[in-house]
Amino acid sequence: MNCFGLLLLFHVASSVKHSLRYFLTATHGVHDFPEFFGAATVDEVQVGYCDSNIKTAKPKQDWMMKLIERNPEHLEWYSQKCLGSQHVFRANIDILKQRLNLTKGPHILQRMNGCEWDDETGEVIGFNQYGYNGEDFLALDLKTLTWTAPKSQAVLTKLIWDGEKARLEHNKNYYIYKCPDWLKNYIRHGKSFLQRTENPSISLLQRTPSSVVSCHATGFFPGRAEMFWTKDGEEIHEDVEKGEILFNNDGTFQMSVEFNVSSVPPDGWRRYDCVFQFSGVGDNIKTTLDKSVIYTNWAYPPEFPVAPVAGIAGGFLLLLVIAVIVLWLKKRTGFQRVDGED
Ligand SMILES: *[C@@H]1O[C@H](CO)[C@@H](O)[C@H](O)[C@H]1NC(C)=O
Ligand SMILES: *[C@@H]1O[C@H](CO)[C@@H](O)[C@H](O)[C@H]1NC(C)=O
Repeated sequence: MNCFGLLLLFHVASSVKHSLRYFLTATHGVHDFPEFFGAATVDEVQVGYCDSNIKTAKPKQDWMMKLIERNPEHLEWYSQKCLGSQHVFRANIDILKQRLNLTKGPHILQRMNGCEWDDETGEVIGFNQYGYNGEDFLALDLKTLTWTAPKSQAVLTKLIWDGEKARLEHNKNYYIYKCPDWLKNYIRHGKSFLQRTENPSISLLQRTPSSVVSCHATGFFPGRAEMFWTKDGEEIHEDVEKGEILFNNDGTFQMSVEFNVSSVPPDGWRRYDCVFQFSGVGDNIKTTLDKSVIYTNWAYPPEFPVAPVAGIAGGFLLLLVIAVIVLWLKKRTGFQRVDGED
């Protein structure tokens, strides 16, 4: 399994909502991966982890560790859930293998569930979706309290799960009440961390004189931001390609926006600026297009100054978690998010 290719596809949805998400993955026949692992994120920041090797949940981030110290039963709850889910997922893989007639491995069953809460409107959205071997499998529609199957292979499972009324009611309660309660609690405890602002460092990069100029921002937090190019102060769209927001492994984010400068005359460069802006915050960080500040390596091979996915090598765990999240987002298009409000 090549996680590195997948990693590049990962992006973070920019949203002004708060979110609590759980990612659970069970694998069978996949080398170098634990049979089961889970991660929790609050506002896209990883706050917890568990797997079948450590057999217990572990908090991440100082504020979550402090919260757990005061409420050890909270961690105990997660550890139990982790262990319990491990058995349920394993059993489900066995069932699905038979139901789908899949004799050959590997098998990967994933779930992403959780809730979003808009602290302005109070709107709550719950979601619970399963993926099998990297493809969307089933999603819970909280309005109708039924499962949605985007593919015909999942229809039999949908019909069986639709019959499990007690489980569906439990789901409904969880996503509409408990999940947002916990999310709000986490946000309160993590406030100074989650609501901090860290400005990016911004560089202009150009591989060769005929390449596009990439304006690269890294190290910023939170992961809700915009980047664009302007000419004489006005945003331009032509010859511009926006990148997506990506995770750094220190918990900050990075993003870039490219500009094809081939039609810009040499004396016209300084009319262009690359602009970075946190969503909903007025301050712009401007970087003027200027040959003298561009990093390039075209004269001196071979090292490009900033690798766009710097830090991949650090932290197997993070890589694992990101790979899992990527598997999800990669194929997520088939799902509609479900609205938990009546
Ligand atoms: C599963 O495979 C067997 C043997 O190849 C076949 O007879 C059976 O019809 C298949 N079942 C489904 C549900 O595809
Ligand atoms: C930049 O624009 C020029 C002219 O429109 C085009 O020929 C060239 O292929 C573009 N370069 C890239 C890297 O997109």
